[in-house]
Amino acid sequence: MSEFEEWVKLEELIRKCARCELYKSRTNVVIGGGNRNSKIILIGEAPGYFEDIKGKPFVGKAGMFLNECLRCAGLSRKDVYITNVVKCRPPNNRTPKPEEIRACSIYLEKQLELIKPKIIICLGNVAVRYIFRKYGLKIEPISKIHGKVYEVFGIYIIPMFHPAAALYNVNFKQVILEDWKKLRDFLKKYKDGS
Ligand code: URA
Repeated sequence: MSEFEEWVKLEELIRKCARCELYKSRTNVVIGGGNRNSKIILIGEAPGYFEDIKGKPFVGKAGMFLNECLRCAGLSRKDVYITNVVKCRPPNNRTPKPEEIRACSIYLEKQLELIKPKIIICLGNVAVRYIFRKYGLKIEPISKIHGKVYEVFGIYIIPMFHPAAALYNVNFKQVILEDWKKLRDFLKKYKDGS
């Protein structure tokens, strides 16, 4: 099967998914978006209100701020692939339950297999915990590890505060933007091969 066909099959599967209770209250599943050929993947938590309506990741207020973060790092949505750990909106945007994360993980795993990212940016605690566990990294509070670069088997894993954190606490905004500026420096070194 070609990679294109694998994506088509995966997207069909996700659209029909009823592996956990979240399918009952969703409007749309949010599979992901952006550049499937990018080596940079951004992973959020789960769709919110607007994402559920539009079927696209990060299109609400947090998404607007994410665009600003990406700009700070010298990136745009066309340079990255964006998805979430969980593909359906949890009611009232509550944190996804462990069983929902487990049920949905087959899709993120397939996306990772198809994208083969060199750089994984985890947006918030849910993504950090998932990816750190997968790659055998010690899980620490995001307040301690945000903006740092971890390398596992040649893959760079970068935990970031969730962009929505800036919406609840304005002091976070500057801290978050500083992390994305550091990412810009890292990407420059990475591209230069130094
Ligand atoms: N928050 C997320 O974690 N993901 C989205 O797609 C939107 C908001």
